[in-house]
Formats: sequence, C-alpha cells, structure tokens
Amino acid sequence: MRLAGRVIAITGGAGNIGAATARRLAREGGIVALLDRDPEAAERIRSQLTSDAGSAASGHLALGCDVTDPAAVRAALQQVHDRCGPIHMLFANAGIEGPLVPIADYGDTEFRQVIAIGVEGVFYTLKYGAPLMADGGSIVITSSLFGERGSPTNIGYTAAKHAVRGMMKSAAKAYAPRGIRVNAILPGIVDSDMVRRILAARGGTMTLEEMTANVPLREPVIPDRIADTVFYLTSDDSLVVTGQSIAIDAGWLL
Ligand SMILES: NC(=O)c1ccc[n+]([C@@H]2O[C@H](COP(=O)([O-])OP(=O)(O)OC[C@H]3O[C@@H](n4cnc5c(N)ncnc54)[C@H](O)[C@@H]3O)[C@@H](O)[C@H]2O)c1
Repeated sequence: MRLAGRVIAITGGAGNIGAATARRLAREGGIVALLDRDPEAAERIRSQLTSDAGSAASGHLALGCDVTDPAAVRAALQQVHDRCGPIHMLFANAGIEGPLVPIADYGDTEFRQVIAIGVEGVFYTLKYGAPLMADGGSIVITSSLFGERGSPTNIGYTAAKHAVRGMMKSAAKAYAPRGIRVNAILPGIVDSDMVRRILAARGGTMTLEEMTANVPLREPVIPDRIADTVFYLTSDDSLVVTGQSIAIDAGWLL
C-alpha cells in the first residue's frame, strides 16, 4: 500500500472521476474525504469504500459541500483536517459541463455558474485547503482537453478549464517552498455520465464509439485510467513533478 494513512480530500467526490479516484486511493491505504454538493451520493460512495474489502484504511468521510460557497469549502476542509489530520492530497475536481450552445445563445447565468464551480471553486479549494496540508503533499486540479483546445459551443467550460491551468502554475510556485506539488490533469473523452449528458444534449445523434472513432488509441478513457494518473501524482513516484498538465486522452490532443 503506497498511501497508507495519507489523508485525501476530493471535491466532486461523488462523480464518476472523483469516485473512481477515491476507490483507487483508498485501496492504496488512503483515508478519503468526499466533498460534494450531493451529500447523499457522496455517502453512497463512502459506504462502498468502507465495505470494499480491498480498501484497507477506514475513517473515510462524506461531506456536503458546494464549492461555490467559500464558507462551506473552508468549513468542510477544516472538518477533514480536524477529524483525519493534515491533508496530504487535495483533488480539486468538481466541475460541470455547462450548456452546449453557440456563443450568442450562451446564457449569462449559465456562464457565471460554470465559472463559479469550475474556477472560483478551485480557488477556494486551494485557498482554504493548502494551509491545512502537510508539507510535501500533492494538489491535483482537474482541467480538460478543453483546457488546451477551444470549443465553439462551450465557451464557459473552455474558459474555466483554461483558467485552472493558470491557477495550477501559480499555486505550484506558491507552495513549492513547502514541498507541495501542484499539477493539472486533462481528461479526454471519458466514458462517463458527463459525456452521456453531452451526447444526449446533441440529440442522441452520435454514440460514444463514434465520438472516439478518430482518437489515436481508438477508445474512450474510463474513469479508472484517470484515477491511475491521479494516484501517480499523489504517490512518491512523482516527487519532483510540479506545474505540469498531463493529458489522459488516448492521444486526442495529438
Ligand atoms: N467526464 C469527462 O469526459 C471529463 C472530461 C474532461 C474533464 N472532466 C472534468 O472532470 C471533473 C469530474 O467530472 P466527472 O466526469 O466525474 O463528472 P460528474 O458529473 O460525474 O461529477 C461531477 C461531480 O461534481 C459535483 N459538483 C458539481 N457542482 C458542484 C459544486 N458546486 N460543489 C461541489 N460539487 C459539485 C457533482 O455533484 C458530481 O458529483 C470535472 O471537473 C469535469 O469537468 C470530465
């Protein structure tokens, strides 16, 4: 077990990527706190972690937390610290896809919401989480392919996912004196509820297989593969890796 006793806080912990990562890190001995605006879904994942025979550590937490509310983020992370000890790994992962419409049709409220969750939420997670971390820890921020590429039909999401890479670089410099590494992951087209929602919003005219047909490795990325990379960034195998953006995309960005 490579993460025995390490405390891990995951925002968006009840979603596909958050839950897969929670399972992986818990199997490695991590004590996982799932922060999500859906506390019931977070509790379902927590109870699976606890009953999972392969999950060696216990003491996992599920906490309701809306990352757009700075007081809630502060209180939830403080609770993780007080109940589990200093945080070793912070996974700023909560995000929403927003509407898929041309710029002229993109609602002002929807734009603000995507930014509030995807950008302000990451800011609050860093601001209130880093002071509660053990020196030598690791922060991972979830960006996207659309943190590198543009999308004509999702300007809010591309804005958010580019912005977090800037915050990642600033935080990597800010926390380096404490030995805290900060990196971003850029998931590709993940076999996930989010992508299924996007396909449905397109009127169901395209399948996941068609969407990934031109991806060099010709397959969708499953959440467990995202978890593999987050595990690497959490483990001591990445001790001098900081300030990086790692695409997990089956070659989509090539
Ligand atoms: N699924 C993909 O293909 C894909 C690709 C690239 C990047 N991403 C990014 O990965 C991250 C996780 O995505 P996912 O596929 O697991 O999506 P998901 O929809 O399965 O999970 C997102 C989770 O975030 C939670 N959440 C939403 N708003 C929140 C808020 N205000 N406060 C706290 N929690 C909130 C949701 O309740 C949900 O549990 C997101 O940042 C997403 O943008 C996903």
